[in-house]
Amino acid sequence: MAESGATVTARLAAIVGPGHVLTAPADVEPHLVDWRGRYHGRALAVVRPGTREEVAAVVRVCAEAGTSIVPQGGNTSMCGGATPDTRGDAVVLLLTRLASVRAVDVANATMTVEAGVTLAAAQAAAAAAGLRLPLSLASEGSCTIGGNLSTNAGGTAVLRFGNARAFVLGLEVVLADGRRWDGLSGLRKDNTGYDVKQWFIGAEGTLGIITAAVLKLYPRPSAAATAMVRVASVERAVALLAALQQALGDRLEGFELIAALALALAVRHTPGAVDPLPGAPWVVLVEACDNGTDAELAERVNAALATAIEGGIADDAVVAQTLAQRQALWALRENISEAQRREGPNIKHDISLPVSAVPAFIAEAHAALTAVFPGVRFVTFGHLGDGNLHYNLSAPAGADGRAFMDEAARANRIVHDLVHAHGGSVSAEHGIGQLKRGELARYKTATELDLMQKLKSALDPANLMNPGKVLP
Ligand code: FAD
Ligand code: MLT
Ligand code: ZN
Repeated sequence: MAESGATVTARLAAIVGPGHVLTAPADVEPHLVDWRGRYHGRALAVVRPGTREEVAAVVRVCAEAGTSIVPQGGNTSMCGGATPDTRGDAVVLLLTRLASVRAVDVANATMTVEAGVTLAAAQAAAAAAGLRLPLSLASEGSCTIGGNLSTNAGGTAVLRFGNARAFVLGLEVVLADGRRWDGLSGLRKDNTGYDVKQWFIGAEGTLGIITAAVLKLYPRPSAAATAMVRVASVERAVALLAALQQALGDRLEGFELIAALALALAVRHTPGAVDPLPGAPWVVLVEACDNGTDAELAERVNAALATAIEGGIADDAVVAQTLAQRQALWALRENISEAQRREGPNIKHDISLPVSAVPAFIAEAHAALTAVFPGVRFVTFGHLGDGNLHYNLSAPAGADGRAFMDEAARANRIVHDLVHAHGGSVSAEHGIGQLKRGELARYKTATELDLMQKLKSALDPANLMNPGKVLP
């Protein structure tokens, strides 16, 4: 029989200490609403374990009591994955106190880092050891390693290094029954049975609680170059990607497409910002890194851009001359989400397509959406280098943003059906959470859904791990 909420919270307080079982409204509210403000949940309590042992003890109590657990890191999920539902019977398990970098093994080029460490802090710890963790998201100041792995986060360096999954060599996980799995391997090769860690990466907290990971690190580049390039169309942007990959090879790390309106919003909401390429219909933010000197890399990048302009692929380019200029260009890209949020409610899409299909998709989607929502504004930007677009829609100028949001399902259907028709995905990097469970049911095959459900039933038979997320 399920224990009363008071009994459960008392048992949890005995594990983590009363100060780390939050129930006062002011304390719990920030953890009950998602970053976008789309989901408002309720919870029995917000619990903050300080060690992996406490996480395991908390999970055991919840398993015995039949109490659901919603794991939470930085609470920057874009799809309501870390927000409880409104029943109020779940515990939000906040991992942010697991905040230590347990080890950096320079010779093995790995770091062992706890789930609650922010991505920025993990990057800094790698840099302090003379290495680099090249996973980079605009939310890195808040998002945590546990959340990054649970969402298999992408970001702006996927083009060269892959998603979060690509960095993981080992995991430490607390399973739904409270057992701890210590899989903190630092091996790059280990073919001993099923690759169990992969089950938890991208599972969005529905199969277990990640408490630590061993991540691959990379040499720190001695040279970097950043440019913003003006292109006339998405077709030209795709051609520019091919040209720069040919000219720069894997020195090319970032290739971010930004539509004029997205750039205009970012300029408007970034203090002191100026539009580097006024009037450009599209721009691409290009990032290259290498060994050697800045001057050598700049020469390569300048030559590649000059050839692209001479060949009619690009129309103009601004190459940053200083670190401050590089940072200013990246600030424009990284502020787009926040800028759009300040402009009002917007319908987001986090889609991926074969890069070759992106121009056709944009043309078809623009036409189909404009026919249904005359005046709809397209705030298109994202990681074109890996075919991932944030194809976000804002209400027509002057229209009621709230009423526009009521049309989200209709807009999603148009966009996602087109994406699917082009062999794309309806969630490139943000995951499914609460927001896209229906989309999963619509676009995944019955076989895939059956396999996912079998894995969920095997690892969390009582469905206590982040219920209501991911699986339809
Ligand atoms: P949370 O939001 O706290 O949780 C995310 C999911 O993981 C939830 O389902 C939660 O239950 C689960 N979870 C969290 N911690 C654990 C754990 N230790 N064990 C098990 N499950 C856990 N995402 C991208 O991929 N690329 C981007 O470029 C990007 N840019 C962003 C920019 C902004 C401004 C914002 C606000 C978000 C952005 N995101 C991006 C989305 C978000 O930052 C990522 O999904 C990030 O990985 C979430 O990390 P978090 O610690 O905030 O996780
Ligand atoms: C980004 O790339 O900025 C993020 O994924 C956030 C967004 O989609 O708004
Ligand atoms: Zn993104």
